[in-house]
Amino acid sequence: MASESLSSPRQILVTSALPYANGPLHLGHLLEAIQTDIWVRFQQQRGHNCVYVCADDAHGTPIMLRAEQMGITPEQLIADIQADHQRDLKAFHIAHDNYYTTHSDETRELAQSIYQRLKANNHIAVRSIVQAFDPEKQLFLSDRYIKGTCPKCKTADQYGDNCEACGHTYAPTDLIDPISVLSGATPIEKESEHYFFKLPEFTELLKDWTRSGRLQDQIANKLSEWLDSGLQEWDISRDAPYFGFEIPDAPGKYFYVWLDAPIGYMGSHANLLSRTGGDFNEYWGKESNAELYHFIGKDIINFHCLFWPAVLHSAGYRLPSGVFVHGFLTVNGTKMSKSRGTFIKAATYLECLQADYLRYYFAAKLGSGVDDIDLNLEDFLQRVNSDLVGKVVNIASRCAGFISKRFDGTLSEQCSEPALLGEFIAASDDIAALFEAREYSKAIRAIMSLADRANQYIDSHKPWELAKDPANAQQVHDVCSTGINLFRLLIAYLKPVIPETAAKAEAFLNLELAWPRAGCELTGHKINKFKPLITRIEQAQIDKMVDASKENNEQPTAPATSATARLENEDVSESNEITIDDFFKVDLRVARVIEADHVEGADKLLQLKLDVGDHTRTVFSGIKSAYAPEDLVDKLVVVVANLKPRKMRFGTSEGMVLAAAGDDGGDEVWIVQTPGAVPGMKVT
Ligand code: MSP
Ligand code: ZN
Repeated sequence: MASESLSSPRQILVTSALPYANGPLHLGHLLEAIQTDIWVRFQQQRGHNCVYVCADDAHGTPIMLRAEQMGITPEQLIADIQADHQRDLKAFHIAHDNYYTTHSDETRELAQSIYQRLKANNHIAVRSIVQAFDPEKQLFLSDRYIKGTCPKCKTADQYGDNCEACGHTYAPTDLIDPISVLSGATPIEKESEHYFFKLPEFTELLKDWTRSGRLQDQIANKLSEWLDSGLQEWDISRDAPYFGFEIPDAPGKYFYVWLDAPIGYMGSHANLLSRTGGDFNEYWGKESNAELYHFIGKDIINFHCLFWPAVLHSAGYRLPSGVFVHGFLTVNGTKMSKSRGTFIKAATYLECLQADYLRYYFAAKLGSGVDDIDLNLEDFLQRVNSDLVGKVVNIASRCAGFISKRFDGTLSEQCSEPALLGEFIAASDDIAALFEAREYSKAIRAIMSLADRANQYIDSHKPWELAKDPANAQQVHDVCSTGINLFRLLIAYLKPVIPETAAKAEAFLNLELAWPRAGCELTGHKINKFKPLITRIEQAQIDKMVDASKENNEQPTAPATSATARLENEDVSESNEITIDDFFKVDLRVARVIEADHVEGADKLLQLKLDVGDHTRTVFSGIKSAYAPEDLVDKLVVVVANLKPRKMRFGTSEGMVLAAAGDDGGDEVWIVQTPGAVPGMKVT
């Protein structure tokens, strides 16, 4: 670490917004993680003490319902998803010091103590409100769980807050023929007591904080609009059943997920400190000298720039030094879309492409503003290939061979181009200022123009020509040593952006890449054998990723889980024949139905939990018209055990139960049973 160049290292704590624990990460999440990670790595490379924490946001109704649909506990669901998230983030080289969950003791204790302080300061109000309630599910319904006909344009099937057809906004109670999305029941109105945070009392504080130069102008302006039009009290409670933390002294009342979510930043940090030691208050106390920055997307400004600072203030903590807001990711110019194959999951990307490519591309596009960022897949391929492979790595590959073959892998004893190297080192402050200001695209432009200079230098000296005459040995040595030095400076500047490539370059250069500073020319230094550091992106890799992202199986096509229906839908061959080998590919197994349940919102599906011998799995089966769930429990059925899991609207189906079925998809359905068999037995 280049700490010697700094008089006093800064203490910095950085966060990215906490991804919800109800689904996989996609490239939109990665935009934020990469933006944050570049900034953190940059600070660290500059010798500052910069800590980066994050977590999964584990609470709320959607997570509770999803777990219920999947037939697992919310705790199981959030643990599984957290493992997936961490795997993906690690593969993208997002170097969190801690990645935790909001469903933790630390966050619970902090949330409760913060709430107690808000209450003691008289910043909590309690009053009854009337809300839509699902009498069947016994659940209060937020707007997104109510659908009905738009009162204005009469378009059917609109959500409870606004109409997608005419844009009209309304209360869910205004909908014509409203239904609960969860059960199909007509919502009733029901009263209950709610807890409110008295946000309006913080208007002056927030006006000051907003205008103190800590926020981007666009954000400060937006906030001013909200502040000028008057703040409302914030409803921070939800009624049971809810997956979250119970409010102290308020049985059956839970903190709304957005109350404890940002406290999850503190919880994750506290958890880190419990391992590493260190004083929580040095960072979070009112007198803190540390810097605190939150990186977030533009959709969650109100939570981070209004509610959160006000809560921190009332609870006696410091306020953030800055909130850095980015825009949304689009792919090929439009919103990510499953049908176009541009809703790209982190894991799908990683199956096809290297992390550094995307890190580089995002850096090349990101500025300090809140504009949306477009991942244009054609431009992505071009840009990465021409900049990273064609310009940067090319410098090393053009020089390294001569050094290792002719000069025993050792660079010249003297720097032959001090002026040129000096130019590269002199750019250090400007490039650092651009990274600091999150103007990554400008930093990349500056670095690439240096790369152009380096390539011009090599082109004009042509070591491959010089090398033809042994009398030029010293010149070849000097030119190639200069090339390696220039390469080293370029990769040092790019290290926060492309850490995997930089690590390979460090192995090749046989040193650790610190942030460039005066007098750091490499002379007489031994380097290692050059191996290609990064390869070109091939169009086929991108095609594969887009194909793999096309999900036409998001919606269940009833009766999708009956074998006959599938054969009808996907005619196997012209003659409808399959070979014996094809048949043997199908792994048919005996399974015992352990549980069978209705699926909320599905007309034809039942959710089955099956014992397949050595494990259990969940299968959605289109047999509801013929079987009541209770009739199925303990039945021995035949299941296609090696069917690729299908993600459906209700959860993932891990196989298919065989059934004989009539053409009409009605109640003429008979599951194939194997009385007397044992779960796990192969069916041939
Ligand atoms: N759980 C909340 C955040 C709580 S922070 C105390 C949340 N989760 S999220 O999973 O929906 O989003 C996490 C972050 O990813 C947010 O900052 C959000 O803006 C960002 N993005 C989600 N989709 C995105 C894009 N398509 N593009 C860029 N960022 C996006 O909100
Ligand atoms: Zn309408």
